[in-house]
Amino acid sequence: MLDYDLELQQHNLALRRAYAINATDQVLDIGCGTGQTTREAAQFASAGSVFGIDHSNEMIERAKRLTREAKLDNVEYVCADAGRYEPPRERFDVAISRFGTMFFADPVAAFVNLRNALRPDGRLLMMVWQSRDRNEWATSIEHALTPDDTAAIDALAVPPAFSLGDQNVVSRLLDSTGFTAPAFEEVHAPVFYGRDVEAAFDFVSGFSTVSGRLARLDAQERANAVARLRYLLVEHQRNDGVWFDSRAWIVTAHRR
Ligand SMILES: C[S@@+](CC[C@H](N)C(=O)[O-])C[C@H]1O[C@@H](n2cnc3c(N)ncnc32)[C@H](O)[C@@H]1O
Repeated sequence: MLDYDLELQQHNLALRRAYAINATDQVLDIGCGTGQTTREAAQFASAGSVFGIDHSNEMIERAKRLTREAKLDNVEYVCADAGRYEPPRERFDVAISRFGTMFFADPVAAFVNLRNALRPDGRLLMMVWQSRDRNEWATSIEHALTPDDTAAIDALAVPPAFSLGDQNVVSRLLDSTGFTAPAFEEVHAPVFYGRDVEAAFDFVSGFSTVSGRLARLDAQERANAVARLRYLLVEHQRNDGVWFDSRAWIVTAHRR
């Protein structure tokens, strides 16, 4: 997911400003993926340690390799489902997550596990997407691919990526799993899709939402959709690459 790290370069700057991780902190990174945030947390917690969890073996193996290459010796990873796995209880000062907490099959179980892993008054800091309609990268690409379906898409249940976009939903989830009332900081920053249109086209073609949608079209519809997608990417090209608007929350709460 190195491209994902590039995609989120602006978001990551906001997160780095918000972490407030101390040198001796024990940090938990939920849904850590290939571990960019895990490794950065390990640099902040230079006399502490970081524990990354992800249920994708592929991601964890890559995270381990990148961590060895970075010569960090205060990082541990476990491949596990956050809804089923209980990390060591009351071990962590802070739990972080960059877009890793929206996809849980059982959010309540996962947040209870997370809460129990925190020390009393331990802190949760997670970045999540705001609602889909506030994220141009999602709406404009879907619209370019299947413009006639947009009304139907809008009426569908909330896609997992946006499951924590509603502040009321987040507040209720955190309240019911033992956290204090959360604070929400808006991060309004663009996502980066590539240095030029070709690179951006290759990148977005790899999204499962894009490939899935294209696969459902017949040959002529697919050719039209690809042409509209390329046009959209051209419209979003700036001097420094192809960018789409996005809005996220940094949510902070403490263990009750
Ligand atoms: C959008 S990616 C973010 C990855 C990483 N935090 C980053 O910013 O690069 C979401 C991650 O959450 C992980 N994930 C989703 N559901 C999970 C679960 N139930 N338990 C553990 N990890 C999960 C996925 O495997 C994926 O790596």
